[in-house]
Amino acid sequence: MVFSRVEAFAPATVANLGVGFDIMGLALQGMGDRAIVEFQDAPEIIFSEICGDEGKLPRDPALNVAAVSARALLDHVGERRGLKIRLFKGLPLASGLGSSAASAVVSVVALNRLLGEPFATDQLLPFCLEGEALVSGYHADNLAPCLLGGIVLVAGTTVEAIQPLPIPEPFHLALVTPDVPVPTDSARKILPRHVTLQTMIHQTGAVAKLVDALHRGDLAALGAAVENDRVVEPARACLMPRHNEARAAAKQAGAAAVFIGGAGPTLCAICESAVTASATAGAMRAVYQNAEMSCISQATSVDRCGAVVLKAD
Ligand code: HSE
Repeated sequence: MVFSRVEAFAPATVANLGVGFDIMGLALQGMGDRAIVEFQDAPEIIFSEICGDEGKLPRDPALNVAAVSARALLDHVGERRGLKIRLFKGLPLASGLGSSAASAVVSVVALNRLLGEPFATDQLLPFCLEGEALVSGYHADNLAPCLLGGIVLVAGTTVEAIQPLPIPEPFHLALVTPDVPVPTDSARKILPRHVTLQTMIHQTGAVAKLVDALHRGDLAALGAAVENDRVVEPARACLMPRHNEARAAAKQAGAAAVFIGGAGPTLCAICESAVTASATAGAMRAVYQNAEMSCISQATSVDRCGAVVLKAD
């Protein structure tokens, strides 16, 4: 079928899950980016509208994640027409909620349908990576769950490296995002360049326990594994104000585990019920409100679908 205009949605994601630095991520229900794409005869990609970004995103297609990933797909299929993109940002930038991944994915998923769906969804990963690499680096731990939904192991940057993992039941999430931008490149520069063999053994053991706990649906073991990171989160905590207080408040409210969403500053808590998730979101929000810092918070769960086409005409 031939379409002239396609609208798509791509969900927020959180990467790492504590110990799973750059190799694990999950999709979040609720928030995300939306885009409408149409062909134009001129070969360029232009943005006829970008909203929700407070004017912060580059309008230059060479510098914008959504356009760069769409360009990679257009070039791959030899399409000579250009694109008009309307991008509706539903995610705060540099927040640890996978904003750049959602922009990369939403334009590519919409364009794939506009092209008559030459690729299955997971096959779109390489094009999305081109866009994501612009701002976050060449890793797919936000992109893969954004494309596919669920909890995903991303042991590399190829399609073959993506492995969906089981979603335990019950599994609820509480999130807080203080209004303090933490650019991914700054949060990566602060990381240690080398770790000892002993630390490496500890860290791989913790990742293995995390995967095992997901398979067994053991939330207590999952929580212990998630929080067993000795490399990344300890180095990044200083970038996030009130980090320890918000973490402690979440635990006091009953969260099974708390981890930094991606590069932060979002804190994500895993909870055993919707009621606990709601209380945990409230407790973390109160920490920032008491410090007179603005933040957004929510109780949510895992999005199982990933990016979707909303409308095609
Ligand atoms: N895994 C990445 C990081 C996610 O933590 O730096 C952010 O893009």
